[in-house]
Amino acid sequence: MAGRIPKSFIDELLARTDIVEVIGSRVPLRKAGREWKANCPFHGEKTPSFYVSQQKQFYHCFGCGAHGTALGFLIDHDRMSFPDAVEDLANRAGLEVPREGQAETTRDRLQDDLFALTANVDQHFRDCLKESDRAKDYLKSRGLVGETAVRYHLGYAPSGWDNLVRKFGQTEAGRYALLSVGLVIEREPKPGDAQRSAGAASSAGVYDRFRDRVMFPIRDSRGRVVGFGGRVIDQGEPKYLNSPETPLFHKGRELYGLYEARQQLRNIARLLVVEGYMDVVRLAQAGIHYAVATLGTSTTPEHLNRMFRVCGDVVFCFDGDKAGRTAAWRALETALPFAKEGRQLKFLFLPEGHDPDTLVAEEGREAFEARVEHAMPLSEYLVTHLASQVELDTVDGRARLAEIARPLLGRVPEGVYRELLVDRLAREVKMPAPRLAALLGLDGGAASGGGFGGGPGSAGSGRAGGPGSGGAPGGSSAPVRRVAREAGRAGRGTLVSQAIARVVQQPRAARAVEAAEVAELRASGERGLEVLAELIESAHAEPNLLSAQLLERWRDRPAEHERLGELAAVRLPELDDAAVGRELAGAVTRLLQELGPDRRLEALIEKAGQVGLTDEEKLELRALQVRRRPGAP
Ligand code: UTP
Ligand code: MN
Repeated sequence: MAGRIPKSFIDELLARTDIVEVIGSRVPLRKAGREWKANCPFHGEKTPSFYVSQQKQFYHCFGCGAHGTALGFLIDHDRMSFPDAVEDLANRAGLEVPREGQAETTRDRLQDDLFALTANVDQHFRDCLKESDRAKDYLKSRGLVGETAVRYHLGYAPSGWDNLVRKFGQTEAGRYALLSVGLVIEREPKPGDAQRSAGAASSAGVYDRFRDRVMFPIRDSRGRVVGFGGRVIDQGEPKYLNSPETPLFHKGRELYGLYEARQQLRNIARLLVVEGYMDVVRLAQAGIHYAVATLGTSTTPEHLNRMFRVCGDVVFCFDGDKAGRTAAWRALETALPFAKEGRQLKFLFLPEGHDPDTLVAEEGREAFEARVEHAMPLSEYLVTHLASQVELDTVDGRARLAEIARPLLGRVPEGVYRELLVDRLAREVKMPAPRLAALLGLDGGAASGGGFGGGPGSAGSGRAGGPGSGGAPGGSSAPVRRVAREAGRAGRGTLVSQAIARVVQQPRAARAVEAAEVAELRASGERGLEVLAELIESAHAEPNLLSAQLLERWRDRPAEHERLGELAAVRLPELDDAAVGRELAGAVTRLLQELGPDRRLEALIEKAGQVGLTDEEKLELRALQVRRRPGAP
C-alpha cells in the first residue's frame, strides 16, 4: 500500500463531496426543512430521528447518537477502513488519491511487510492446528467447536525451537522481520545454552517465541494481525505468553475480540470487558459477541477511548475474588474521567471461583446476560465501596467518606453525571447535596476543570431535542429556546462547549475572534480552551472551511474527535455569521477574563492527573501553589 493520505486532500475531497448523495444512495432520505431525515440506519426505529445536514456536511441521529461526516458514514455504516472510504469518495468525485512523500512511503511499506508476515504466520498456525490432534483435543476439552476456532483464527504453534525460523526466516531480512514482530527471540549466548542451541536455529541466532501453545491472533480494527497470545496446553509457565510491544502491537491500546465483534454485529450496543482470551472466545460461542479483553494489562485510558468510540455502554466484568476486586477498583479509577451523561459504565462481579468462560458454560447465555443486565452502576460501586471503608453512623465517619470521595469525584468531568454522583454521596453522608458539593469544591464554576466535558446545556441538550421534537433543526422550537436559556445561565464548562459548538458548526463566524485572543486561549493550559483555539486557528487559515472538514482534522485524536462530533450536532439558535461572530468574540473574552491564577492552578492540577506536566508547567504549578498557601491572599 502506498503512503499516507495528505490532510489537505481530505479537505478537498470533502469540499467536492455531498454527504446527502453519499448517504442518500444507501438510505432513503426525505427533505425536512433545511435538512434531510430518515429512519436511522444504525439502530432500529419507526419514526425518523436521523438527520443529514447539507450545510454542515454532517449526519446525526438524535435517537442513538450516531454522527459523523461522509467519511465517517462509510467507515461506520459500510465498515470501510479509512483509506478505503477515502478511495470510495475520491472515485465518486473523480479524484486521484495522492500519497505523501518518500520517507513515509518507506515506513508504510515496511509496516505492510510486517503485516503480511503476521498474516502468513497466522495462516501457518491455523494449518498446524488442523494437523495437531493434541491441540484440537485441548480446544475440544475447553468446550470450543470448530466454527469458533475458525471465527477467531485459533491456531497452534508446534513444539520445536525453529519452526518459524525455518519457514519464514531463511533470509536475514526474514529473521529481522520475525524479530520485529516478536515472533522470535534473539539468542543470548549463555553457559548451559550451548547444547540446546545445537541445530538450525543456532546458526540463525534466533529461536521461536511460541512453542507448543494454542495460538490466539490479536487483530486490529482492520483485521490485521498485530500480535499473538499463546496458551500452554498442559501445565507450564507462563500460562499465557503474549507478543511483546512491537511496532504493530501496543498492549495498552488493543482490545482482543473487538474486530471479531464488529464482524459479527451490525451495531454494537454494549461492550463487556473481560480478562481473558478464552473468556472472549467462549462467550462468543455462547452467542455473546460483544466481549473484549485487555491483554494481561489493566484497562488504560486509551482502551476506554476506543470502547466509547464503539458504544456508550461498557460493562466491566471481574472475578469475585480479591484480585478481581482490586482490578475492578483500579478500572473504576481509570474510568472516572470518562463518566458522563449519555454513557453507562457498570461493574459485574462474578461468583468466586468462576470466570466468564466457566460461568457461561455452566449457566448459558440467558442467565449470563441477565447478570450483565443487572451489573452495578459505577456510581453505586463508587459510593458503596467508599462507604464500606468508614463508619457511616458517626459524624467522623461521614466526614471521612466525603474526604476520600473528593479526589475521585474531582476526576469526573463536570456535568450532570457528576452532579448525580454528588447527590448519591450526599444521601450517604446525610448532607444536602449543594453543601456537600461546596465542601468538595465541586460546585459550579469553581472546579469546572480544563476538560470540555460540558455542562447541562451542551451535549445533553442536543439530544434533548430528541426523537419527539419533530421540527427541523434551527427552527425556534421549544428545545432550541431551552438551549438558549440554559446557555444564558451556563457555567464555564458549558460556555466552553457552547463556543466550541459554534465554531464547529459555523467555522466562518470564528474569523471574528482576534488572533491575539486565540493565542491567549492556546496558552491557557486549559484543555477546552486549547481545543477552541485550534479550531479557531483552522477557521482563520481557511475562510471557507466546512464543519465536516474541520471535524476530519481531528480524526486521529479520538476523544476530541468524538466530543466535537457531538457538539457539531447540538441544536443552536440559527444566526447569521456576523451575529455568531459577535457571540463568539464575547464568549472568548469572557473565558479569558475568568482565567485568573486560580483557574490556571486547577487546570494544571487536572492536566497533571491526566497526561502529566512538562518541566516548565511543574515549576509554574509549584509557584502557584506557594502563592496559595494559608496566609497568602
Ligand atoms: P487467567 O489466568 O485468568 O486465565 O488470565 P484465563 O483467561 O482464565 O485462561 P484459562 O481459562 O485458564 O485458559 C487472564 C488473562 O490474563 C493474561 C491473558 O491475557 C489471560 O487471558 N495472562 C494470564 C497473561 O498474559 N499471562 C499469564 O501467564 C496469565
Ligand atoms: Mn479461564
